[in-house]
Amino acid sequence: MSATASIRRIGVPELRARKGGEPIVCLTAYTAPTARLLDPHVDLLLVGDSLGMVVYGFDSTLPVTLEMMIAHGAAVVRGSARACVVIDLPFGSYQESPQAAFRAAARVLAETGAQAVKLEGGAEMAETVAFLTTRGVPVMGHVGLMPQAVNTAGGYKAVGRDPAAFERIRADARAIAEAGAFSLVIEGTMEPLARAITEEVAIPTIGIGASPACDGQVLVTDDLLGLFAEFTPKFVRRYAQLGEQIDRAAAEYAADVKARRFPALEHCFGVKKG
Ligand code: KIV
Repeated sequence: MSATASIRRIGVPELRARKGGEPIVCLTAYTAPTARLLDPHVDLLLVGDSLGMVVYGFDSTLPVTLEMMIAHGAAVVRGSARACVVIDLPFGSYQESPQAAFRAAARVLAETGAQAVKLEGGAEMAETVAFLTTRGVPVMGHVGLMPQAVNTAGGYKAVGRDPAAFERIRADARAIAEAGAFSLVIEGTMEPLARAITEEVAIPTIGIGASPACDGQVLVTDDLLGLFAEFTPKFVRRYAQLGEQIDRAAAEYAADVKARRFPALEHCFGVKKG
């Protein structure tokens, strides 16, 4: 048996039981090497459809396909041994009907080995969440700022500031929790709303730009590593400056190549000439 085979993966019931307990540590991952590096430190690896923007350079998550999510999800499962892996259902793969959602989710779980799927939406998605969870598909909900709704929302703006929106998002969160989701991402809301939801629902809430009132936090890994020079959301602390390091390394490499400062193969292996 290999060393990694003996490590037990954190399961959905274990995360569900963390409600009100030790905060849940969650980061996004899209590739096997990143998953391998993050795995010892996190409870949950989210293969977010943010990969459309972070990896593929789209200006929204809307062009992301089920095939992309499956390919990246399978890589993250291969690269990790301990963290629970949750994969986003992409735009268009689940909104049409509970049956369509089940077909998409079943492919994701069967073809990647991940533990659960995540979908965006409030009360309108409750029937779908119930349909999936009663048929063996664990679901993480996602309320508040929902990137797949960028066109109806008119941008990526914090939500829930006015009383009507506050109450609507709170009701959305309740509906998704009561439908059987095992946890809930709350994105882009002020602390009072995140706190109200967290106190009200029986499942762990995982915030992104939603305050420490939540039961855990998820961030886009590339944001906290400083891989995006152009933009970092205000709520993200940068723990590293990899973008700057890559820039310096590439410049140094270019200078070396231009000066022909790269070794011949025989120098690397100590091969004698002749
Ligand atoms: O797609 C994603 O990465 C997400 C998280 C930011 C919550 O949904």
